[in-house]
Amino acid sequence: MKSTTLVFCCSIYSTNLFSVYAQSAQELINSVLNPPPGSEHYSSYSSEIYFNHTLYNQTPVASTNYDRLEASAKLLLPPAAYDYAAGGAGLEKTVAANREAFDHWRILPRVMRPVQPSRNLTTRLFNRTLPAPVVMAPVGVQTLFHPDGERATSKVFGELGLPYTLSTASSTGFADVAASNGAGNPRWYQLYWPSDDDLTRSYLETAAANGYEVLVVTVDTWDLGWRTRDLDRGFFPFINGVGVQIGLEDPVAHQKLGFNPLAANATAEQKQTAALYHTITTSRGVSPVWSNLWKLREVWGDKPIVLKGVQSVEDAKLAVEWGVDGVILSNHGGRQIDGAIGSLDALPAIVDAVKGKLTIGFDGGIRSGADIFKALALGADFVQLGRPILWGLAHEGEKGVRHVLRSLLAEFEITVGLAGCVSLQDVNRTLLVES
Ligand SMILES: Cc1cc2nc3c(=O)[nH]c(=O)nc-3n(C[C@H](O)[C@H](O)[C@H](O)COP(=O)(O)O)c2cc1C
Repeated sequence: MKSTTLVFCCSIYSTNLFSVYAQSAQELINSVLNPPPGSEHYSSYSSEIYFNHTLYNQTPVASTNYDRLEASAKLLLPPAAYDYAAGGAGLEKTVAANREAFDHWRILPRVMRPVQPSRNLTTRLFNRTLPAPVVMAPVGVQTLFHPDGERATSKVFGELGLPYTLSTASSTGFADVAASNGAGNPRWYQLYWPSDDDLTRSYLETAAANGYEVLVVTVDTWDLGWRTRDLDRGFFPFINGVGVQIGLEDPVAHQKLGFNPLAANATAEQKQTAALYHTITTSRGVSPVWSNLWKLREVWGDKPIVLKGVQSVEDAKLAVEWGVDGVILSNHGGRQIDGAIGSLDALPAIVDAVKGKLTIGFDGGIRSGADIFKALALGADFVQLGRPILWGLAHEGEKGVRHVLRSLLAEFEITVGLAGCVSLQDVNRTLLVES
């Protein structure tokens, strides 16, 4: 069996089993095993996995199942880092609610429709056509999970042409992430809105200068939630200088501090002062308010501004009134308020209220391609991936990130097809039932 046919397997990119171009049995097989360039699909990742095992006795770097992925990441990570990512606020009821919300809906597939192996997942988002409506959620301090941190995650999202969101709590700066993400790729910047307007202006100007094109303003984390796992250890990486790189590199912060903490002659005490300054100015315990949004618009101009952390219909309507371009329905992965509504449970009412007036993003609890399908079917315009990517990162850096992202996209594309959808236009609430 390991003859000429399988020689092609190392470049398997397609499961185009019913290619109309196949004339003979051999041509049909070749069209599957060695497809024409440009006809690749996310779902072909499954063939790649099967053939890599058949030919080379290789299995993926981590599981394709979320629970097993998280379990092996836990073994690889220091306990404090694992708990920092896995944990939530208080009794972690909101973390659980985010997952339970997905069980409130079941997919009701349609059959006998003209679905081809290549399903059209492209979507138009903030003046870009994207290959899929999938975005990297802003996640800080990624070097906790692998030394390559944000460099690895931004590289993989760039490779796939999917938006990467850089956090204000990043352990890597604007320019370095832009370089690893790659020229021309869609990059977003997430702001923890500083209490000092000069710093805000400086962060936004540096972001724009480095090609970040959408501003995501996180509005639910102006004070830190009661994160019991971290509290029990006293674990707060920012004080030790991890997750404060945006502040350490900022020229206006240098002026305010009176020194450059990254200078060769900077003392350890100065570095710690600068880390504290960044942390305090970005999580100051004073809520941002609607009436100050103009300050961001003044610096950011016409480029898209999106509010992350909206959960109520009233706030979504206010977002329309105040002229922002989008909202991301999110409860910060259950890390802020314990006992909050499951993120997906809040989605339908917000979609009913503001769909078409705003771009609607969603995150919280997405663990599989089927979850992505459900969120989109309920009306989200895009979804964000958080914890699954971190667990991938723990597995050999970019290799694990690539595996997890390709797996989620593959399962999503397969689910779209098996539910009877040719493109995302077909993915709607008629394919879901409440359970
Ligand atoms: C370790 C960790 C760090 C995070 N850091 C940020 C951040 O810096 N800024 C932000 O807006 N959200 C942050 N989030 C929240 C994510 O953007 C997203 O809302 C959340 O991870 C979604 O939940 P899920 O990962 O369970 O799907 C963080 C989440 C985790 C798990």
